[in-house]
Amino acid sequence: MDKKKSAISKMVKEICIKDGKMQWEMHIIPVVKNALELAGKLKADMEVVEISAYLHDIARLKGIPEHHIAGSKMARDILAKLGYNMDFIEKVEYCVLNHGSSLMECKTLESKIVNSADSMAHMETPLWLIWIACVDKKMDFRQSFEWVEKKIENGWKKRFPLPEAREMARPKYEVAKALLDSTKGYLSGRN
Ligand SMILES: [Fe+2]
Repeated sequence: MDKKKSAISKMVKEICIKDGKMQWEMHIIPVVKNALELAGKLKADMEVVEISAYLHDIARLKGIPEHHIAGSKMARDILAKLGYNMDFIEKVEYCVLNHGSSLMECKTLESKIVNSADSMAHMETPLWLIWIACVDKKMDFRQSFEWVEKKIENGWKKRFPLPEAREMARPKYEVAKALLDSTKGYLSGRN
């Protein structure tokens, strides 16, 4: 890993460790892994995708609302300080700004990849998301379940316009859905 990239990953990891909610292991690393795999398949700019994946939730990790907007500005400042060129900075800034929004707004291949990778990470970690909803958002179990189910269903419906991303996400979605469906059966009294 080059020096600038390792400085970024170290910085994000340290924020996550201080936070104590396993966001590095349970969210940032899965997003980076999925984003890089997809970028390789689609021949996207690997560097833009990887750095954007590390930085996409930088504002959320610090508890800042409207985190995609604040995060894009934070990403710009971090990358400028590290000496990245303006063209690169703008590409990453765009990915961070659009990572959680409707893919209708994602104009670049790299931003579509980071957006889909973020949703794929949710599909891979539904148990952790339930925990986050209970502990962080102070929801009870039923509310947490509904929040996670909605997050995963909306992601599957709205965040995979690229056929390659959809195919890569399908098995992750099906496993998450099976897990949630069996729980839902008992929650609703159906089972
Ligand atoms: Fe995220």
